[in-house]
Amino acid sequence: MVPFSLAVWLLLLPVLLQDAASSEAVCEAQAQRIIGGRPAPSDGLSWPWQVSIFYQGKHICGGALIAEKWVLSAAHCFPNFKMQTKHYVVVLGAYQLLNTSSNTVTSDIQRIILHPSYDSYDTPPPRGDIALVELKSPVSFTAYIRPICLPEASVQFSMEESCVVTGWGEIQPGVALPPPLTLQEVKVPLIDREKCNSLFNAAQREPPLYNPVGPGMICAGYQEGGKDSCQGDSGGPLACPYDGHWVLAGVVSWGIGCGRPGLPGVYSSVPFYATWISQHIPSMTFAMRGNGGVNGREQNSPAVILLLVFFALTLL
Ligand code: ARG
Repeated sequence: MVPFSLAVWLLLLPVLLQDAASSEAVCEAQAQRIIGGRPAPSDGLSWPWQVSIFYQGKHICGGALIAEKWVLSAAHCFPNFKMQTKHYVVVLGAYQLLNTSSNTVTSDIQRIILHPSYDSYDTPPPRGDIALVELKSPVSFTAYIRPICLPEASVQFSMEESCVVTGWGEIQPGVALPPPLTLQEVKVPLIDREKCNSLFNAAQREPPLYNPVGPGMICAGYQEGGKDSCQGDSGGPLACPYDGHWVLAGVVSWGIGCGRPGLPGVYSSVPFYATWISQHIPSMTFAMRGNGGVNGREQNSPAVILLLVFFALTLL
């Protein structure tokens, strides 16, 4: 009896282990228009979720790969999305946009879903500036193409955290990134909404913007300016370390100029839109505190329980 149950257990072990491994979503594998930034490390392996969105053959926005078939970007990147989905493509696994390698994959777009609260005719700042882009077919993950973990709605990022924003946007307002368009990265700390609103309120501007940073937004940058995202970075990822891996905290949305003192960059808050994302991608898993980062294990737990019951029965 004992050898039999042991044999069953040994047979089940790989299944259990595989189950645990697959629930540790692929996005966890990573340890740890950009103004004042620097080129990302030249291996191009650092930010494998970074994508470029091309419109009629030109880079217009960034985006972040979040699943085999899905990219998260900004709604304002798609002003013509209704009639013209076919004019957009997503470029994955790129490092230098004018010097693409065999690691680069270009994908057509199946569907673009803008957040229902986004209204392009709204006066700035934009509300609901977030979009889900469904690829025509799933991409294969490689060392250069991997998704970033999404935070659960309850996740609160620490304001001391040094996050990183990446993109192929302008290096100064009105100054395009020079060829060969090397992906830039810059470290920016998060700034909470209250503080950020008081910064914007203090900046004497015409027309005045009062409390422009809405509940679905988060800021990042330095009081003294100098480091920021800029035009062309929109839709791109603001990644923060969380429970030992990179999690997508924000999507580049808007700012007043770029890198100006006292005017940080404003990002759509990904935890704020997590529920909306899961409505469109029910299989999506989200990072939360306390279980190694991703709650995928929770979803697999019925299978684990069944196997444990089965194991218990073999002991009888
Ligand atoms: N709206 C810009 C774009 O379309 C991004 C602006 C970000 N601005 C900033 N200062 N962080 O690319």
